[in-house]
Amino acid sequence: MSHTPRRLHPSTRVAQALGWIDKTTGALVPPIHPSVPYERTADGSFPAGRTYTRDHNPTYDQAEALLANLEQGSAAMLFGSGMAAATTVFETLDIGDHVVAPEEMYWTLRRWLQEMADQGRITLDLVPNGSLVSLERTLLPGATKIVWVETPANPSGAITDIAATAEMAHEVGARVVVDGTIATPVLCRPLEHGADLVMHSATKQLNGHADVLAGALVTAQEDGLWERCRHERACRGAVLGPFESWLLLRGMRTLYLRVCRSAQSAERIAEMLDTQPAVSQVLYPGLPTHPGHDIAVRQMDSGFGMVVSFRLREGASAAHRLAGTLKLFRNATSLGGVESLVEHRAPVEGPGSPVPDDLIRLSIGIEDPNDLIADLEQALVG
Ligand SMILES: Cc1ncc(COP(=O)(O)O)c(C=O)c1O
Repeated sequence: MSHTPRRLHPSTRVAQALGWIDKTTGALVPPIHPSVPYERTADGSFPAGRTYTRDHNPTYDQAEALLANLEQGSAAMLFGSGMAAATTVFETLDIGDHVVAPEEMYWTLRRWLQEMADQGRITLDLVPNGSLVSLERTLLPGATKIVWVETPANPSGAITDIAATAEMAHEVGARVVVDGTIATPVLCRPLEHGADLVMHSATKQLNGHADVLAGALVTAQEDGLWERCRHERACRGAVLGPFESWLLLRGMRTLYLRVCRSAQSAERIAEMLDTQPAVSQVLYPGLPTHPGHDIAVRQMDSGFGMVVSFRLREGASAAHRLAGTLKLFRNATSLGGVESLVEHRAPVEGPGSPVPDDLIRLSIGIEDPNDLIADLEQALVG
């Protein structure tokens, strides 16, 4: 399918969606294939190699090929959501297998892992994000099967050294899976740092327009784990619909422009927030004061992502008030869309969340950064 050589800049590859042209019509934009069944010939075979849409819909092919290419992986799979992609990885485990995950991570997945552990389906250890000392103490040779990483983490922006984590995990026979949702392959390609799988909530900046729920896995190698993920996706029907796959590919064509613009604005906004008397701490890996900054500089390029979190000196009620006082930032959950969003985060995650109750999470969109800064300034002094 790929007609575009890898040496072209990734922004060219993504804008042209690998230069695909429809063979029958010459169309530059791919068709949507809604068909569920595929016809057998008289001898009972399927000449096109497709039988049924649950795992064989051709509309997935181009978006999967593009994502694998951007991540420098060998294959990709689309899913009906980021959660469907993430849970598929854990569904490949045997009863009692050991999982290590970070304390700060996408909260619904952390809660689901804790439920799996409570049911005795896995054993689970949560370690402080990025702490190699804690990781080393927690790994169980032969028993630890998955080390889950989320970098930068949502919403704290905590950074994990992927290469060092992969080295330790591989020594005990575990696989490393990185949730790369906030970075996107524009800013970080975890497989290049030794991870085995990358997971994305494609709902976020990959699609970028807040109108598709989608997920993805990308693998370094098409090995046994990958085949088990493929089997799980097909059996559980965790696939993306053909219309959503098509929308995702359309959104991805502008990925570079959106990611670079929002990351540049996010950096300016983080710097501005850092000067505000009402703000006690800014959590953004692009700031030199952030504890993960040096690692982020090494393993990310062209920016640090669209999520900026900060804490308010006057506590939870001030955070609640601020989220409602902003005029341009929409007070809504999610991240990675073209519109900027704000959220007072702790109440969303509920009891047991490590998120401080005075934390505000911003998702920076592609609006003019001066307008966004002016909106924040009026709310912070108000
Ligand atoms: C970092 C991260 N990972 C995974 C997910 C889950 O993705 P989805 O909502 O597509 O299921 C989210 C959703 O917010 C997220 O922010």
